[in-house]
Amino acid sequence: MLTQDPNLSYQANADRYTRMTYPRCGASGIRLPALSLGLWQNFGGTDSLANARAMVQCAFDLGITQFDLANNYGPPYGSAETTFGEIFKRDLAPYRDELIITSKAGYDMWPGPYGIGGSRKYLVASCDQSLKRTGLDYFDIFYSHCMDPDTPLEETMQALDYIVRSGRALYAGISNYGAEQTREAIAILKSLGTPLLIHQPRYNMLDRWIEDGLTDVLKEEGVGAIVFSPLSQGLLTDKYLRGVPANSRAARQEQIYFNEKDIREELLTKVKALHDLAEARGQSLAQMALAWVLNNEVVSSALIGASRPAQIEDSVAALDNLDFSAEELARIDAILK
Ligand SMILES: NC(=O)c1ccc[n+]([C@@H]2O[C@H](COP(=O)([O-])OP(=O)(O)OC[C@H]3O[C@@H](n4cnc5c(N)ncnc54)[C@H](OP(=O)(O)O)[C@@H]3O)[C@@H](O)[C@H]2O)c1
Repeated sequence: MLTQDPNLSYQANADRYTRMTYPRCGASGIRLPALSLGLWQNFGGTDSLANARAMVQCAFDLGITQFDLANNYGPPYGSAETTFGEIFKRDLAPYRDELIITSKAGYDMWPGPYGIGGSRKYLVASCDQSLKRTGLDYFDIFYSHCMDPDTPLEETMQALDYIVRSGRALYAGISNYGAEQTREAIAILKSLGTPLLIHQPRYNMLDRWIEDGLTDVLKEEGVGAIVFSPLSQGLLTDKYLRGVPANSRAARQEQIYFNEKDIREELLTKVKALHDLAEARGQSLAQMALAWVLNNEVVSSALIGASRPAQIEDSVAALDNLDFSAEELARIDAILK
């Protein structure tokens, strides 16, 4: 275990760049860690700060240089940014130039018409709030978290352009946009002079929607992808093969995005078959699931979540075997059919 006693002052692992790989993000100049850590779950105001801190330290010690936030990560909303700000101040501030720190706005955040959507008013105000909560001078990437059908796409992209030009962020990103919306967003941002760096969609062995058009757009346009929930929130691990463990995400009562009813029998049959294949490859199912998303050429980073440091160590070990034979890929396709 690389993590130190959390009461001691943190000194990053001197060997942190020996294990991780850093694929280029699309046609840009920026390289992202093959694995990035997201703070959506387990970093809120109701979670243990000591555990959150241990996870961030563990990740950085293993070469994970990218940490992903959004205004509404918690609970309560905003608290994951506050937690990250606390950890940044205590541990990571000396390493700011080694880090990619990202945030987003789009989903509901505060009451009234200016606390949700894609308006310039919401995005700029929310970015300022996120900077304040994290204590950062700027984000590396700021995202429109989702497409707002009631706001002209031009306005949302102008807001991202402004956020970059005003120094609040270095790069612009979008998340959860469909293929055609992405193509339009890319064209608008290009015309404004702030190219789209990255798209953040969900992608994993159980949810392959991006293969239906989006990956072609990203490839053609030289935009990179960081894919979220690569483990399908934990389903693509061996943890649910023998019931729902008490300390798992699906067992958390306050969870609304993933619970017992999402662990359906027909999915478990596939998970069991994938588990056997992973075992034959000499890795855990979690490791194979990560290797599989990284095998898609538009994916520069798999955006993982974690509830404890040991999971991050296990996930980083996926890098020990990223190659698939044509037979293995065909077998996976057959299992997922
Ligand atoms: N843009 C968007 O709209 C959007 C939406 C969702 C997420 N995201 C981003 O994506 C990040 C990751 O999402 P996610 O948490 O759903 O990702 P995930 O990696 O699919 O799931 C993470 C969960 O899987 C389990 N796990 C992780 N590593 C494991 C391992 N090695 N072995 C066994 N179990 C393991 C843990 O569950 P237990 O808690 O059960 O231990 C962990 O909490 C978020 O933090 C956020 O930054 C973005």
